[in-house]
Amino acid sequence: MPKENPKGLILSGGKGERLRPFTYTGAKQLVPIANKPVLFYAIEDLVGCGITDIGIVVGDTRAQVEKAVGDGTRFGARVTYIEQEAPLGIAHAVKIAADFLAGHPFVLYLGDNLVLGGVARFVQRFRGDSSNCWLLLKRVNTPESFGVAELVDGRVARVVEKPRRPASDLAVIGVYMFDHHVFEAVDQLRPSARGELEITDTIQYLIDKGLHVQTEVLDRYWIDTGKMDDILEANHVVLQTLTPANQGQVDERTRVYEPVILEKGARVVNSVLRGPLLIGQDTEVIDSYVAPFTSISHHCRLKGVRVGGSIILEHTSIEDIHWPIEHSLIGRYVTLRGGQAVGGSYSLTLGDHSQIEMPGA
Ligand code: G1P
Repeated sequence: MPKENPKGLILSGGKGERLRPFTYTGAKQLVPIANKPVLFYAIEDLVGCGITDIGIVVGDTRAQVEKAVGDGTRFGARVTYIEQEAPLGIAHAVKIAADFLAGHPFVLYLGDNLVLGGVARFVQRFRGDSSNCWLLLKRVNTPESFGVAELVDGRVARVVEKPRRPASDLAVIGVYMFDHHVFEAVDQLRPSARGELEITDTIQYLIDKGLHVQTEVLDRYWIDTGKMDDILEANHVVLQTLTPANQGQVDERTRVYEPVILEKGARVVNSVLRGPLLIGQDTEVIDSYVAPFTSISHHCRLKGVRVGGSIILEHTSIEDIHWPIEHSLIGRYVTLRGGQAVGGSYSLTLGDHSQIEMPGA
C-alpha cells in the first residue's frame, strides 16, 4: 500500500557535548557547513522529498533555532516546534511528537546529519512499498560510534547502539522512515544504560514483532557533524560541490584561484584566495592568504592572516596572526589579535565571544 502524506520530524535538541565550547552558546545544528547551518540541509532535503509539513524537536536552544528557521516559509515548508524538556533520546523525541505526526508515515532526520545529494530517492521507495520502516546504512571505519545493523541473508536481524564489538561495519545513519507502528514501539521502551530512549531499541522492537524493516546501503556521502573534525570534513566536501560566484569586490592586487564564492558585500584587498573557499556577506579580507576548504561567515574581518581548512563564524575579527591558522573552528564575535612570528601553525577551537591576544615574544 503506498503511503500517503508523509511528514518530517527533525531533531534539533540535545546538548552537543562533543562540540564544546561551541555548544555552550549555540545549537550544534546551527554550526554552518559552507556558511549554511547544518540543520538547513535537513529541512531542504525533506522539502526536496516533497515533505513540507515538518516538526522540529527543540530543547534548550529553542530560541536560536526558531530565530534561524522561523515558520518555514523561506524553505517552502510549514514548521511546528515541539519542545523536549530534556535530551532523553531520539525515541523519546518521536514519542512526544506523536500528536504532531498523528499516525502519518514520517521521515525522522537528525538535525546534525548531512547526506550529500539528499535522500529523496529512498523516501520515494519507502512511500511506494509495504515496509513499516526503512533504514539507511553506511559502511564506516568506526562502527562502535554508531547504531550498527547486523544483516542475515540480506535482512536486518539486529540493530545495536554503539556496540563494543560491532557485528558489522554498517552504521545506521540518522535518517529513518517509519509508519504508525513506531508509536507502539516507543511506548514500550525503557531507558537504556545512558538513560535515553534509544532509536535502535525502537527498531529492534519492530524487527522482533516481525514487521517489515527494509534497509539500503547508502552510495553517497553522509556525515554526522557531532564533532569538530567531522564538521571540518563536511565543510571540505560541500565546498567542493559549489559553483563559483562573485557578488563581492576584489581589488586588482588580489589573486583569485577558483572555485571561490564571494557573497554580497564581501570585500577583498591585496590578498590571495585559493579555492574552494567561501567568503560571507559583508566580510572583509585584507592583506591575507585564504587557503582551500575555508568558509568565512558574514560580517567578519581578516587582516594580515593566513587561514586554511577552517570555518570562521560571523562577526569575528582576526588580525596580524603570523602563523597560519589551519584546521580550526572559530566561533561568533571572536577577537583574535596576533603579535610576532615564531613559526609553526595554530589549530584552534574557539567558542563564541573568545578574545585572544598573542603579543610578540
Ligand atoms: C545517533 C543514534 C545512532 C546513529 C547516529 C547517526 O547517535 O543513536 O544510532 O547511528 O545518531 O548519526 P548520536 O550521534 O546521537 O550519538
